[in-house]
Amino acid sequence: KSPSPAAAEAKSEAAKNVKIGTYFATWWALNVVFNIYNKKVLNAYPYPWLTSTLSLACGSLMMLVSWATKIAEPPKIDLEFWKALFPVAVAHTIGHVAATVSMSKVAVSFTHIIKSGEPAFSVIVSRFLLGETFPPAVYLSLVPIIGGCGLAALTELNFNMTGFMGAMISNLAFVFRNIFSKKGMKGKSVSGMNYYACLSMLSLLILTPFAIAVEGPHMWVAGWKEAVSEIGPQFIWWVAVQSIFYHLYNQVSYMSLDEISPLTFSVGNTMKRISVIVSSIIIFRTPVQPINALGAAIAILGTFLYSQAKA
Ligand code: 3PG
Repeated sequence: KSPSPAAAEAKSEAAKNVKIGTYFATWWALNVVFNIYNKKVLNAYPYPWLTSTLSLACGSLMMLVSWATKIAEPPKIDLEFWKALFPVAVAHTIGHVAATVSMSKVAVSFTHIIKSGEPAFSVIVSRFLLGETFPPAVYLSLVPIIGGCGLAALTELNFNMTGFMGAMISNLAFVFRNIFSKKGMKGKSVSGMNYYACLSMLSLLILTPFAIAVEGPHMWVAGWKEAVSEIGPQFIWWVAVQSIFYHLYNQVSYMSLDEISPLTFSVGNTMKRISVIVSSIIIFRTPVQPINALGAAIAILGTFLYSQAKA
């Protein structure tokens, strides 16, 4: 006997939820590993411009090999595609390097607490630059986001201005990346995985000259020798893990964007930050005062209220 249409629908709905749940769990797990290894590397080797470049280079290489060996189907793209991708890549590059510079200066948890304030930046940019208006509940939800982030920043034991500003610049850049990305993907038949692959490659081209100008090979080589002598040969593995996992978590997040709305995506991203904040505090034994944790909790609660208000 064939199942009723209602039962079949419930089954396909359940299968879809399992698929999205698997994407989310994979995305968060990969992201936690990236954040831990990225910080281990930065503690021993404080060259965030190079480590950000290596993450993009590693992802680009992985995708070129996947296309060449037909593990992944190469995308059919033209010059128009690259032109539309350019502003997305500029924003992605700025957001990525700014977050990495931030994490080289402050605790991983602090960077991610400030990054949980991204919805506030999204509303402010959409309101003042794009003239979009929102229901009052959306504006009200910004009060706990901004207040919570502010409280966490004021009570952070190891506050550092570069670390704070890096996370703030990253927030602003990623809001623009998401706005440009939505425009750039419209009507295009490129999968999330290939879209992110092209984004990595273009960002790599943009970032490399700046990384050389800001840090440069002299510093990199001297620092590398020091890190290897201090940590041992496993330092190279740490760099490899942070680079590979950076690409993988972003790839999975772009793949999940194919399946879910941007709103569900931003809720997923905030939940991801909770797992990063908690696990990095445990692993790096980051000192946290109760008032500091309260600020973080209020900010994160605010982003949930924001997503509810926006839905
Ligand atoms: C980066 O290096 O790009 C940031 O850590 C990414 O931040 P995300 O958590 O917003 O992806």
